[in-house]
Amino acid sequence: MKVFLVGFMGCGKSTKAKQLAQKLNCSVIDLDAVIVAQTGKSIAEYFAEHGEAAFRQLENETLKNYPYPPNCVVATGGGLPCFFGNMDWMNTNGKTVYLQMQPAQLVSRLHNRQKRPLIANMNDEQLLTFIEMKLAERNPFYTKAQHSVNAFDLDVGDLVEMLGE
Ligand code: S3P
Repeated sequence: MKVFLVGFMGCGKSTKAKQLAQKLNCSVIDLDAVIVAQTGKSIAEYFAEHGEAAFRQLENETLKNYPYPPNCVVATGGGLPCFFGNMDWMNTNGKTVYLQMQPAQLVSRLHNRQKRPLIANMNDEQLLTFIEMKLAERNPFYTKAQHSVNAFDLDVGDLVEMLGE
C-alpha cells in the first residue's frame, strides 16, 4: 500500500509520514527531499533560479516517475496536489490523507520560513492572511483526499486504524 499525505506547509506531513512508516514498517519518501537530492539545490534555491512554474513541473514529474516500493508513506509538498491533476493521480495510485490544520495553528508552527520561498519574508500577520487565502484556493484539491483528519495532536495509531491497517 502507498499512502500519500497532503496538506498545507507546516501541518506536519514529513513528521507524520516518518511516524506512520515506522508503525507500518515500510519506507518513507519525502518528495521535497527527493527533489533536493536530485537537483543538488534547496527548494528556495530552485525557486530563485528557475521560478515556481519550473518547480511545479519538476514536482509533478517527481511524483509520477518516482520508483516507489510497493509499501510506503509519501510526504508531498504543500502545493503539489493543486497542479497537473496530481490529486487524482494520488487517489488512483494509493491511499490519500489530508492533514487538516487551522490557519492560526499553521502560523504558530511555521517558524523556519526562510526555507519556504512562498512565505520567506512574511511576519505573522501577513502569513495568516496568506494562509487563509491559499487554503481557500487549495481546499478543493486537498479535500479530494480519501481521508481528512485534524492534524493537530494527531495520534499516529489513529491514522493506522483509519487506513484499515
Ligand atoms: C510549497 C510547500 C513546500 C515546498 C515548496 C512549495 C507550497 O513543501 O514544496 O516550498 O506551495 O505550499 P512543504 O509543504 O513540505 O513545506
